[in-house]
Amino acid sequence: MHLADTWHQFHTQAITNKLPLFTHHNRLFDILYAQQFDQSTLSQLFTIADRIRAIAKTERGMRYLKELLNDKRAMLFFVQPSTRTFMSFLNACHILGIQTSEIRDASTSSEIKGESPEDSIRTFSSYVDLIITRHHDEGFAEKAAWVLNVQGKRKVPVINGGSGKDQHPTQALLDMYTINRAFKDHGAFSGKTYAMIGDLKRGRTVRSLTQLLALYKDVSFRFISPKEYTIGQDIQQFLNDRKIPFTLTDSLEKGIKGADAIYATRLQDEYDVNNESKHTDFSSFHLTEKHLPLLKEHCIIMHPFPRRNEISIEIDKDPRALYWKQARNGMWIRAALILYLFGREDRIALYT
Ligand code: NCD
Repeated sequence: MHLADTWHQFHTQAITNKLPLFTHHNRLFDILYAQQFDQSTLSQLFTIADRIRAIAKTERGMRYLKELLNDKRAMLFFVQPSTRTFMSFLNACHILGIQTSEIRDASTSSEIKGESPEDSIRTFSSYVDLIITRHHDEGFAEKAAWVLNVQGKRKVPVINGGSGKDQHPTQALLDMYTINRAFKDHGAFSGKTYAMIGDLKRGRTVRSLTQLLALYKDVSFRFISPKEYTIGQDIQQFLNDRKIPFTLTDSLEKGIKGADAIYATRLQDEYDVNNESKHTDFSSFHLTEKHLPLLKEHCIIMHPFPRRNEISIEIDKDPRALYWKQARNGMWIRAALILYLFGREDRIALYT
């Protein structure tokens, strides 16, 4: 069978079964999509992240963390623009003592000479112990993991740092970590209404986050977007299958009133084929000070960033605005994830 056919068969199976196929000795090995996580792994990761950030508060602690993975090397293959995801992964690696190398522009790699991305990935794996990817193609990380860890001999974990319009599982992790910290005294994730705003058709963050929140009891969703940018049928089907209530609306006011969490996202116009989103007026989906009276006292306001005008800067000083915390939480939860992938999380329990 041709390589591409074998891949296609495997991909269909992985997606339809939603199985954590990329595991090793019963623990996650590759991090490719949100569906791989369950409640217990999430709470384990939150605990590891809390522990790492507590240890990092002192110079002695920072030195201890730097020893944990200083025998490892990581490659960041980020050929789609990134600020926070790249920086937080890079710094998460450095906190743990991992040496890093990076490619951020495909035109500087041999792909420009006609090398296939699969061959490039296999080449990186010769030099490093972890590969983190961001790519404009859906399923890219999964394919890389398949090339290395199903087909190949040298097994190197792959983390998906964003794959096209499809998934962004580590953004969802940091969002979950942020929500967990915010709602610790308010019943955690369960029983809450989550309002997702923006270009939900092409935004991968909401897709991944919805799948993680759906693990918890009595959650409900409101998807707020222009009609032509509503959340994908696959996510709607996913929620219907689990009997999780949700509504679709193009009214920002209706959607945010009484919600427990608001998650705003930007227009993903880099995926336009014909500048089509220029014709849509997004201004009625922008959160401004005038909306604040509609919000619940403990409602949290989130955004994966980068932001344009989705949340006006006047809201930044509101204690319910958590987007800057999200960015910092991303570094700690990614450090926790990497430590967990290498099976060394026990060592932070030993630190006194
Ligand atoms: C998001 C992404 O790349 O999907 N950014 C991020 O990683 N924080 C959201 C976006 O670009 O709009």
